[in-house]
Amino acid sequence: MTVDPEIVGNKEVGGAYALKVFQASLNILSHLLIGIVVGVSLLFSFRNGLPLNVIMLHIVLCVIGYQLLMAESILSLSADNGWSGVLRFKDKRMAHTILQVGGSALALVGSFLVMVDKTVNFNTLHGQFGLVAVVFTAVSLVNGLTSLYAFEWRRFCPGNISKITHICFGIVAFASSSISLCYGFDKFSFRLWASDAFTNATIACTACFTTIIIINPTINFFKKSYRLIVK
Ligand code: HEM
Repeated sequence: MTVDPEIVGNKEVGGAYALKVFQASLNILSHLLIGIVVGVSLLFSFRNGLPLNVIMLHIVLCVIGYQLLMAESILSLSADNGWSGVLRFKDKRMAHTILQVGGSALALVGSFLVMVDKTVNFNTLHGQFGLVAVVFTAVSLVNGLTSLYAFEWRRFCPGNISKITHICFGIVAFASSSISLCYGFDKFSFRLWASDAFTNATIACTACFTTIIIINPTINFFKKSYRLIVK
C-alpha cells in the first residue's frame, strides 16, 4: 500500500508514521514473547510442585530477574513502550531504577544459589554466559547510580561517559543472560519435558525479544558515543 504524506487528524501519514507503527508493533511483540518465555520457564520449574529444588529455584529467580524485570526495565525507557508511555521522564527513570534493582537482585541471588551448589564451576557454556551476565549486571548496577547522579558526580566521572558505559554494560548483561537462557533450554531435562520442536520455538522467541529489546539502547549507545567523539 502506498501512503501519501498527508495529514489525517493530527497524525502525519507517511514514512515517519509507518516507522512509528512498526516500532509499536515490535514493542507489543516483545512483551508477548517475554510472557511466553517466562511463562514456559515457570511451568517447567513448578511442574513437580513445591518445594523447589536449587536448580528450579535458580530458574525462577534468573528468568523473572533477567527476562521479566530487567527486560521491562530496558523497555520502560523506550519512547514506543506501552505501559511507560504515559509517565513523565522523571517517573520513567524511577520505574527503570526500581525494575533494574529488583531484577538484578533476583538474578544475582538465583545465579549465586546454583554456583554455591556446584562443586566445579563454569564448565558449561550455560554457566559461562551466566557468569558474564552476573559480572556485567553487578557493574551496570553501580554504574547506573553514577548515571542517575551524573550531574552531582560530574567532577569525578563525566556524565556522558558514565551513561555510555551504563548502556553498554546493560546490553552485554541482558544479551548474555538471554544466551545463557537459550543454553539452559537446550539442556536434556528441558528438551525431554518440552519436546524438541517446542524447545527450538522457545529459543527462537528468546532470540527475537532479546534482539528487539537491545535495538534502542544500541542506537542510543552509538549516538551518544558519536556525539562525545565529534564534540
Ligand atoms: C536467564 C536465565 C539463566 C541464567 C542467567 C543462568 C545462569 C546460570 C549460572 C551462572 C549457573 C552456574 C554455573 C556454574 O557455577 O558453573 C547456572 C547453572 C545451571 N543452570 Fe542456569 N541460568 C539460567 C536459566 C536456566 C534454565 C532455564 C535452566 C534449565 C532449563 C538452567 C539450568 C541450570 C543447570 C542444570 C545448572 C547447573 C549445570 C551447569 O552449570 O550448566 N538454568 N545457570
